[in-house]
Amino acid sequence: MKAVVLGAAGGIGQPLSLLLKTNPHITDLGLFDIVNTPGVAADLSHIATPAVVVGRLPPDDGLKAVLTGADIVVIPAGVPRKPGVNRDDLFKINGGIVKDLATGIASFAPKAFVLVISNPVNSTVPIVAEVFKKHGVYDPKRIFGVTTLDVVRASTFVAELIGTPGAAPDVVVPVVGGHSGVTIVPLLSQSTHALPADLSADAFAALVKRIQFGGDEVVKAKDGAGSATLSMAYAGAEFAGKVIRALKGETGIVAPSFVALAADAAGGKALAAEIGADLEFFSANVELGKEGVVKIHALGKLTGAEAELVKAAVPELATNIKTGVTYVLDKY
Ligand code: NAI
Repeated sequence: MKAVVLGAAGGIGQPLSLLLKTNPHITDLGLFDIVNTPGVAADLSHIATPAVVVGRLPPDDGLKAVLTGADIVVIPAGVPRKPGVNRDDLFKINGGIVKDLATGIASFAPKAFVLVISNPVNSTVPIVAEVFKKHGVYDPKRIFGVTTLDVVRASTFVAELIGTPGAAPDVVVPVVGGHSGVTIVPLLSQSTHALPADLSADAFAALVKRIQFGGDEVVKAKDGAGSATLSMAYAGAEFAGKVIRALKGETGIVAPSFVALAADAAGGKALAAEIGADLEFFSANVELGKEGVVKIHALGKLTGAEAELVKAAVPELATNIKTGVTYVLDKY
């Protein structure tokens, strides 16, 4: 099992690579960045776990060398947010970075599962898909936008709210839609742990807003030094771990991810009918298997408030998706 991290020397990349080094299923870990990967790789290589670590830089075919033979590629390359910067503002820089890296994956590891962390995820995932289409290697079942941090935050914030922070690992809240602001839709009525029956409408709205804009808390606290890195590394390793378990044959693993609805034609069609829009991508509960997406789950029963949140997410999602698709089409 070869895992590769592109952007491995960054704020997310380093702790994510550390966590992947501790995953016992991974036998090879390839690290690529435009800086510092030999050092990060040397450091991690002293940890007594199975993965053999290699760090490469762009010269001398570094990207080709790390990607060759990859089963799973995680991309946290790109600039993060600072106060006053939203995820869409990152598009100008990160769009180009993701397009170039996707071109590398399409060329050297076209069958790998691709997990996109670089923001804006709502647009960078369509970029990867379009690049793969251009190279004739597109398989919608294998490309995932990592929205796990929203899911992790929802678990933590709900556990805090119900007064049992220690229960956070057991709290499961589906978070659907996309990965920025109002496109992040927590389905709190489907939480494994019910919210207090006497929760006021204002407190409910504040919880939803905290899940949607939780990233801003970190951006503000870091005060110009970037956005979430450690919690994102944890979330990225969680999702990668699930994908790896599915690749190894475990069945029944379900996790939210931002995927192409074409990954499961029937499920995607049913989901599009539920959301009342013909979107190419959407984050939903996805069942994972050896070939990637096995099934896109329906949203299920929504409250009136949740249906409103889904409705509010759709226009921004449509715009974000179009931005990513157009960016690639304009370049060819
Ligand atoms: P960072 O600046 O600390 O690290 C980014 C790394 O990417 C740097 O080491 C840089 O050298 C590298 N890089 C830049 N261009 C590259 C290229 N062409 N090839 C390979 N590596 C390249 O940033 P940080 O904090 O690690 O964030 C990375 C990305 O993850 C940002 O776009 C950020 O917005 C996103 N993010 C996504 C989240 C999510 O939930 N999906 C949550 C938090 C951040």
